[in-house]
Amino acid sequence: MKVIIAKDHAEASRLGADIIEKIVREKPDCTLGLATGSSPVGMYQELSRRCHEEKLDFSRVHSVNLDEYVGLAPSHDQSYRYFMDDNLFDHINIDKANTYVAKGIGSVEANLREFNAVLNKTDIDVQVLGVGPDGHLGFNEPGEKLYDGAHQEVLDESTIDANQRFFASRDEVPRFAVTMGMGNIMRAKKLLMIVAGSKQDAMRKLLLSDKIDPKCPCTFMRLHRDAVVILEQALADEIGYKG
Ligand code: GLP
Repeated sequence: MKVIIAKDHAEASRLGADIIEKIVREKPDCTLGLATGSSPVGMYQELSRRCHEEKLDFSRVHSVNLDEYVGLAPSHDQSYRYFMDDNLFDHINIDKANTYVAKGIGSVEANLREFNAVLNKTDIDVQVLGVGPDGHLGFNEPGEKLYDGAHQEVLDESTIDANQRFFASRDEVPRFAVTMGMGNIMRAKKLLMIVAGSKQDAMRKLLLSDKIDPKCPCTFMRLHRDAVVILEQALADEIGYKG
């Protein structure tokens, strides 16, 4: 696993965008695995800028997203479909028909069948990841066991706490989500994690321990042949990570 320490979030976002740009330029019809949350927003802004100012071409790119809240329609401003349109797809020349975010409303079983069918026929060239304060990837919450394929998760109380800042009240945060499984994530050719926010515990377990622990799903990144973690100097200093 390669760890890059950036001086601040702006630099982390630029370095992340460099990695995505290289893939898109080398393979214009690549598939990007995308993530929501505040961590990749700066990188998405940088990619949007490069699309406009530096002719970075997304016209043949496909994408699939990590997860979606159960119960939120695509038009809900906290749904992950809305987030992706608002933070990236509306600002680059991607064909939205080539973007996939799992459905949050309707039959969960049918939505998971569709999500798994999409994943089973998709080779993800790079999977963008954030990380939850509890170490979750996508919505793969800590537990005794992790899942291979797309499935439904009950959100941990700490995840509801962390994500309530985006909703009018804690009660409005959905309690369930559908997410890619750990197997889907690990099968991506490359993993790119941008770390931002209060992620000290998760980063200690990922960077300062040798344990692969289902109770901290992000530790599985260490098993991947081509995983990159970009974190900020301040966080590295705080946990005593020297590189
Ligand atoms: C949500 C998403 C995760 C994301 C996490 C961290 O729980 N399902 O994919 O990594 O938030 O979010 P943030 O980047 O805002 O800290």
